[in-house]
Amino acid sequence: MAHCASGGGTLITARVLVMASSLLLPGGLLLPGGLDAVTGIARQWILGSNGLIVFALVTEPKSVPPIVGLGSQSYNQHQGLVMSRFENQTFVITGGSSGIGLYTALGIAGEGGRVLVTGTNSDKLKAAEAAHPNIHSLINDAADFADADKLAEAAKHLFGNIDGVFLNAGMGSGAPLGQITPELFHSLMNLNVGGVLFGAQALAPLVKDGGALLITSSAAKDKGMAGAAVYSATKGAVRSMTKALARELAPRNIRVNTLTPGPIATPFFERLGRPPEMLEKITNHIKATNPLGRMGTPEEAAAVAMFLLSGQASFVTGADYAVDGGEAQL
Ligand SMILES: NC(=O)c1ccc[n+]([C@@H]2O[C@H](COP(=O)([O-])OP(=O)(O)OC[C@H]3O[C@@H](n4cnc5c(N)ncnc54)[C@H](OP(=O)(O)O)[C@@H]3O)[C@@H](O)[C@H]2O)c1
Repeated sequence: MAHCASGGGTLITARVLVMASSLLLPGGLLLPGGLDAVTGIARQWILGSNGLIVFALVTEPKSVPPIVGLGSQSYNQHQGLVMSRFENQTFVITGGSSGIGLYTALGIAGEGGRVLVTGTNSDKLKAAEAAHPNIHSLINDAADFADADKLAEAAKHLFGNIDGVFLNAGMGSGAPLGQITPELFHSLMNLNVGGVLFGAQALAPLVKDGGALLITSSAAKDKGMAGAAVYSATKGAVRSMTKALARELAPRNIRVNTLTPGPIATPFFERLGRPPEMLEKITNHIKATNPLGRMGTPEEAAAVAMFLLSGQASFVTGADYAVDGGEAQL
């Protein structure tokens, strides 16, 4: 028990639930708290001198049962309270040098995790490594199935066992009937389906019991999109694969979920190889037809990916989480 001031300045009794006693250091600093309008529970945070927050839960009146905090959070003097869901955890993210994968890597690293990201472009991988000291990188071609074992070897060497894998490397391309070639079919299938399948096969043995796999699909699997028969099929395939893997890995309490982005503003669109004026038309059409009237940001997709990879999603497996502004939902 401790005494502290609520955000409104009233002196009340605090029940400080110390999640890890080492976090509550002498001279812990009180941070701004507040009264939750819905629950009527006043909160107060205490900052330990090691920079970690101890959940200090304050109840008023005393008849309100205390809420048990779930862990620690870190406090950044510029950003205020930031979550710390991945402290001492390790992850592999394929296609982590750009877009959704990169923002997820940065988010995990920012919350204390260490991440090995892959891609095929060494400059982008170097830039990803330079962006955060917790990010490591490896050139690794997800469409070359032998590379999956090399990735697993590198991850084992770097981290030993891992807490989660985000199988995200993928690309979009398309052609209408009459113009679909075996090359297009094989390139998309190899990367978007084979990369996920062999990545999961090589990396799942390294994932700790209780860990997580996350697989990137696309709203293209749910929406009929002209010229996207092959791409949509690849993204439907990985959604189905998620369910089989979720069953297979459930005995180890490893959760397997699908992230299904709608239109997210990443280099994905530039890679389609269309002229700039056509790209502009495509993005204008997306904005005009999306229920929320815009494209999503990679941070928004990463936020859902991080949730699914974190312990906060501990009872979520086999699920499909859309981040699409309602594109394929409404
Ligand atoms: N952006 C969207 O609107 C959208 C919508 C639905 C689904 N998605 C899916 O989201 C995932 C991520 O895409 P994004 O939007 O973040 O696009 P992005 O910025 O283009 O990122 C693609 C990532 O995949 C990597 N990659 C490409 N080919 C690879 C290969 N052969 N081996 C290993 N890595 C490879 C890229 O790295 P290198 O360049 O270094 O190879 C990059 O890190 C993809 O699976 C995509 O299909 C995106």
